[in-house]
Amino acid sequence: MSSQSKKRALVTGGNKGIGFAICKGLLDTGFDVFLAARDIEKGKDAIAKLSTDNNSVKLIELDITDDESIKNAVSSVSQLTNSLDVLVNNAGIYPDEGVNILTVSRDLLTKTMNTNAFSPIGITQAFISLTDMGGSSAPRTPEQVADTAIWLATKASMIESGKFFRNRTEQPY
Ligand SMILES: NC(=O)c1ccc[n+]([C@@H]2O[C@H](COP(=O)([O-])OP(=O)(O)OC[C@H]3O[C@@H](n4cnc5c(N)ncnc54)[C@H](OP(=O)(O)O)[C@@H]3O)[C@@H](O)[C@H]2O)c1
Repeated sequence: MSSQSKKRALVTGGNKGIGFAICKGLLDTGFDVFLAARDIEKGKDAIAKLSTDNNSVKLIELDITDDESIKNAVSSVSQLTNSLDVLVNNAGIYPDEGVNILTVSRDLLTKTMNTNAFSPIGITQAFISLTDMGGSSAPRTPEQVADTAIWLATKASMIESGKFFRNRTEQPY
């Protein structure tokens, strides 16, 4: 497959764990991958493990909680490509310190929500112009997408409440 026809993905927190595995899996299926990492040295180590003569994996420095870092990352990616097919909002924290929702401090809750909830929204907003999500190039019409919402509101029984649906079919969490 030529580089131009290959799909391109950006994975946040790609230097380890699930993000690293996603980078590897996407490279194995023929994607060009932008591996985003907040720590440039950890990112370089990850790239060294993934890079081969037959794939394209590039390091992008990105702290998802830092606006300046996001701006620089968008600029770096834009210099390398004019479109992304996949954006994986993987980076996150899980401060497992024996706390639960009744005991978690406001500071820790704020930090966690900022990283895991608000930052992926900021990342999506920042990179949306490089993707084909929504707008005139969206693959389905507004009416096709609206069908399930209207069906849920009018015909689905109350037992369907609190679940995710696509095309009138329940989606797993
Ligand atoms: N593992 C599970 O069982 C599980 C289950 C449900 C959900 N998840 C979620 O799945 C995601 C990945 O989990 P994991 O187990 O692979 O976690 P992990 O091994 O701790 O890796 C987290 C990754 O996110 C990066 N990261 C954290 N904060 C960041 C920030 N502000 N900016 C950029 N990168 C940041 C980390 O970078 P550094 O290396 O620099 O710290 C690391 O690359 C997380 O969002 C996690 O909450 C995991």
